[in-house]
Amino acid sequence: MNRIFSGVQPTGNLHLGNYLGAVRNWVRLQDQFQCLFCLVDLHAITVWQPPEALRAHTREVAAAMLAAGVDAKKHILFVQSQNPNHAELAWLFNCVARIGWLNRMTQFKEKAGKNRENASVGLYAYPNLMSADILVYKATHVPVGEDQKQHLELARDTAQKFNSDYGQDVFPLPEPMILGAGTRVMSLRDGTKKMSKSDESDYSRINMTDDAETIDLKLRKAKTDPLPLPETPDGLEGRPEAANLLGIWAALANGTRDEAVAQFAGRQFSAFKKELSELAVATLGPINAEMKRYLADPAQIDAILSEGARRARALSAPVLAEVQDIVGFLKAV
Ligand code: TRP
Repeated sequence: MNRIFSGVQPTGNLHLGNYLGAVRNWVRLQDQFQCLFCLVDLHAITVWQPPEALRAHTREVAAAMLAAGVDAKKHILFVQSQNPNHAELAWLFNCVARIGWLNRMTQFKEKAGKNRENASVGLYAYPNLMSADILVYKATHVPVGEDQKQHLELARDTAQKFNSDYGQDVFPLPEPMILGAGTRVMSLRDGTKKMSKSDESDYSRINMTDDAETIDLKLRKAKTDPLPLPETPDGLEGRPEAANLLGIWAALANGTRDEAVAQFAGRQFSAFKKELSELAVATLGPINAEMKRYLADPAQIDAILSEGARRARALSAPVLAEVQDIVGFLKAV
């Protein structure tokens, strides 16, 4: 049985980019795969998080996923720290993966910046924990964005090295599934920058917590250029804002950007934005309302997550036991 593991950091607001590029695609995978959806709080604390914010964000991301259609009964939605097996396998992988491999990780270089000496050890070892997340369930497929491909490559190398070091075929080599390719959602204020939770201007993004009115306002205020929309796709050259808004429309309408161009060819931005806003509100409004309903009842979210963790532990415990035995650890009697 093919098994999917996917992880999301419970930090900050989920926005339209996360929804179109990740969450929505996970929801669609539920028909074909057995899925584990994990809120990776152990990864989040590799850079310091205010404790109350971490707790709130963990519930918020859980609510967003449930509202977007993650089925926590058929699949597993849980918090990483509630299954200690991840951290235990991560330690073993700290002893398998090589320092040279980790030194090549571009995300560490970016996140640590100039002050590498002052980065946490956790930030450095981050990819080994990610490998453990996946392999502790022997997951076969991992939906990731482009930025996580290198980490997944490392997970494959680690699985392979473990298998060959111990002469056993324990771990499958997990396959990346690059989802949402072509749905790069850019800032509403600057079509050359990615939509980001850390952008200072809230008008640069549509948050999954935004209500219908806010979504409408943000889209109406979105930056444009003075020309009407182009007649053909080449006309988007040098017009990043037009390209972005048409791309968003296409993603929400489940079509392609070329189709969006054809549909709105030669029209004024004002008319297009009105339709875009209607579509966005129709798609995101119900999700937002459902998310609010969950967030009003944190005990319900906590119960769903606890049940998810219980089922996750039941899947990973035998794998961890198998691996500990292979390594030569004594079994507790
Ligand atoms: N590193 C991933 C990110 O920042 C999150 C993550 C943690 C993950 N563990 C994972 C993704 C395992 C896929 C599989 O997006």
